[in-house]
Amino acid sequence: MSILVTGGCGFIGSHTVVELQQAGEDVVVVDNLDNSTKAALDKVEEITGRPVKFYEKDIRDREGLEEIFTKEPEISGCIHFAGKKAVGESVRLPWEYYDNNIHGTLVLLDVMRKHGVKNLIFSSSSTVYGNPDAVPVTEESPKKPCTNPYGSTKSMQETILTDIQAADPEWNIVLLRYFNPIGAHKSGKIGEDPNGIPNNLMPYITQVAVGKLEKLHVFGNDYPTPDGTGVRDYIHVVDLAKGHVKALKKFDENGGLYIYNLGTGRGYSVLEIVENFEKATGVKIPYQIDPRRPGDIAANYADASKAERELGWKAENGILEMCADSWRWQQMNPDGYGR
Ligand code: NAD
Ligand code: UD1
Repeated sequence: MSILVTGGCGFIGSHTVVELQQAGEDVVVVDNLDNSTKAALDKVEEITGRPVKFYEKDIRDREGLEEIFTKEPEISGCIHFAGKKAVGESVRLPWEYYDNNIHGTLVLLDVMRKHGVKNLIFSSSSTVYGNPDAVPVTEESPKKPCTNPYGSTKSMQETILTDIQAADPEWNIVLLRYFNPIGAHKSGKIGEDPNGIPNNLMPYITQVAVGKLEKLHVFGNDYPTPDGTGVRDYIHVVDLAKGHVKALKKFDENGGLYIYNLGTGRGYSVLEIVENFEKATGVKIPYQIDPRRPGDIAANYADASKAERELGWKAENGILEMCADSWRWQQMNPDGYGR
């Protein structure tokens, strides 16, 4: 038995491959290297001491996927990370986002079912909750319209997967709604390697800390939150990766659709993140307050108790460890993988 990991060279995928291998699973990775490099898998192999089978292919390439399933008949399930994820870019390039994320997922599902493989874990996002009426959000909280095409693809992918599972109950489908993954593997060998100027908070902070960017721009301090800055549920990427290993147990069920929030259940404001980063690393982060970023919401954090109850999963790392591990990765690899 082995697990096909799409997008396994990326940030969350590479950390998940480590945890899968360390849990004794055999892994096959497919990635088109659109937003990553094979170097990430070389580092994964250094960490685990085990080889990873790798196919450089696009999931929209039906023949390419056919070849993988034919050559790797032991594949029994898939963890599907592959997709484009930059919010701003998705507003400029909606066709590319719908094509990659939606079309890619449809081709993958079709090839999987043709090969009788009907177990899938999908990378969803807290973005499907839109601007929630109340926090923390549970899996029953209503889905809301997304403010950008990237978010819409996640929401639509969930709908597609739900409909396919309803029509063919042999499928086991797990929708994992991630909150805000940060941190890096403790070894400092793998981590997040954003292209260009980071959009997300933690990689921006680490690039300020390492001297590549001058100061942090805090997007708004007039939100209805305790200090006025946005509140999010930051989760260590290794905890997130372990959530996938725990979710594999759903592949043993006789068909079903399962939805879990993967977060810590605790929200931190932007200024609290700055404070904790400084405390964890001893590095001062200069910042200025700027206007709100369009499309941002005040607060979102998870009720993650369902994953604890049903999967036996709970985030273990606190905010100081998340900051220290993000910083270790950035310091050891100031230019990421050097793409
Ligand atoms: P990432 O960009 O680091 O990883 C995605 C990987 O998929 C990359 O290696 C990329 O090269 C590959 N890929 C993209 N399109 C492909 C295609 N058509 N065929 C084959 N490979 C392809 O992103 P990540 O942060 O690791 O995110 C992984 C998944 O989790 C994505 O689906 C993302 O939308 C979702 N997610 C991420 C976050 C986050 O904050 N990082 C939050 C919620 C959900
Ligand atoms: C963003 C995406 C979301 C995606 C998630 C992945 C938007 C609108 N949403 O969410 O779809 O799933 O990333 O983790 O982009 N901030 C600053 N300065 C910065 C960067 C961020 O003040 O330079 C603030 C933001 O206003 C927010 C918080 O930091 O309050 C976190 O921002 P970010 O890391 O971009 O994540 P999200 O906005 O939650």
